[in-house]
Amino acid sequence: MNLPNGPRYSRWLRLMKFIFTPLEYLEENYQRYGDIVLVERKNKAPFVYISNPEAVKQVFTSPDIVEHSGISSTERSLTSYLFGSNSLVVLDGDRHRQTRKLLMPPFHGDRLNEYSQLIDNITDRVTNNWKIDRPMVVRPIMADISLQVVLQGVFGLNRGKRYDRLKGLISSLLDTLGSPAFNAVIFFAFLRQDWLPFSPWKRFVAIKEEVKQIIYEEIGDRRQELANSSRTDILSLLISAKDENGEGMSDEELHDHLMTLLVVGYETTVTGLCWAVYWIASLPEVRQKLVAELNTVDSKDLDRVAKLPYLNAVCKESLRLYPVALGASPRTLKYPTNIMGYDLPAGAALMPSIYLVHHREDLYPQSKRFIPERFLEREYSPYEYFPFGGGNRRCIGSALAMLEMKLVIANLFAKFELNLSSTEPVKPVRRGETMAPSANLEIVVTGLKEQKKPVLV
Ligand code: HEM
Repeated sequence: MNLPNGPRYSRWLRLMKFIFTPLEYLEENYQRYGDIVLVERKNKAPFVYISNPEAVKQVFTSPDIVEHSGISSTERSLTSYLFGSNSLVVLDGDRHRQTRKLLMPPFHGDRLNEYSQLIDNITDRVTNNWKIDRPMVVRPIMADISLQVVLQGVFGLNRGKRYDRLKGLISSLLDTLGSPAFNAVIFFAFLRQDWLPFSPWKRFVAIKEEVKQIIYEEIGDRRQELANSSRTDILSLLISAKDENGEGMSDEELHDHLMTLLVVGYETTVTGLCWAVYWIASLPEVRQKLVAELNTVDSKDLDRVAKLPYLNAVCKESLRLYPVALGASPRTLKYPTNIMGYDLPAGAALMPSIYLVHHREDLYPQSKRFIPERFLEREYSPYEYFPFGGGNRRCIGSALAMLEMKLVIANLFAKFELNLSSTEPVKPVRRGETMAPSANLEIVVTGLKEQKKPVLV
């Protein structure tokens, strides 16, 4: 059998490198073995990283050779436990296709425009008391904005007691999931024990149960309320959605979808926003061009703001250079298949590597530099640029996430002169499944724009 090459050293060392220095691990393998890298697994078909756009296309577009989800049984049990067994991310085949069909409409077309005002209002509220010369840590700010967008746009919750309780719990849940201690829990199933002192698992289980109870309460109340009102948040739309047989979703299904959208959608958007703020605040020429473009439109004409080309290019470049997810979810081969001249066995898990494709010098010259202009000068195919994955598992929240990134960035940089509070270069660090700028990244307001008067502290 003609198999691709790959690292042959111990499984533990590979795992440690992947957990602690994932970018270096991926790049080292790419330098040594090229566009397709095979990693042996104990008692399982191999794992294969792919960074060739033609091969990525084959993986994303061949439903008859590629099973939908190649997540391992360990990951599957953690994901099922966290989201529930009806979650889109653990479903395969027909059920996955049908569930996507039910979940997609609220994330597209006119529905999406309804979120613009919400995102802008929330950003205004969160930045209302910003003061000159006071350094602020970026992550909690972006987390606050994104969580409010999810709670109001997805859950349709109005501010009040339940909103505050859920907001506090979900922040803790996601901080626990993104903590370095929880990284170990993701990769080592034996650490999922609640008798261990200070166990991150124990804390996670307790918060998750409380969140679950609140979600069920909200679903119950909303079902009653919907009989007399028409609402447009995602929960209300999902309650009203019917499948091909005219059946609506059970409470359990609704809970699993909400939990999925919350966890998958929130952490990723926060990280995308933090990177975008970092790049714009650290590169004066990018900031100047962006601000010049923002000045050409009324900052409250959100439709026009969302269509600004340089703003769009800045957000895209940000998701290119450090994609929030290093790879798309792995797909499992149904049959032995030839990819790039290699014979891969049935059962092999194929992972299109977003990070490696986004750093191919033939596609992105000087790939480690932040150059938004590349997206103004060239159109990339969905196999050359895919921060949201692709094929039949492509992120269903991509349009909402891009809209949120653009409107939050536009709002901040149209109102404030923002700089980083330190000139130290920022490194990407693992936060659960995502790569984020280090947690202490700080910005400082150095001036106010528009009619606002500076508030001195
Ligand atoms: C910058 C923000 C985001 C990034 C970079 C991102 C990235 C991704 C990626 C790479 C995948 C895997 C796709 C594949 O395997 O081909 C994915 C799946 C998914 N994303 Fe996102 N995402 C973001 C925001 C969101 C938001 C806001 C939501 C919803 C509120 C969301 C919901 C989902 C869901 C439900 C899936 C699973 C799709 C399936 O399995 O069929 N994501 N996302």
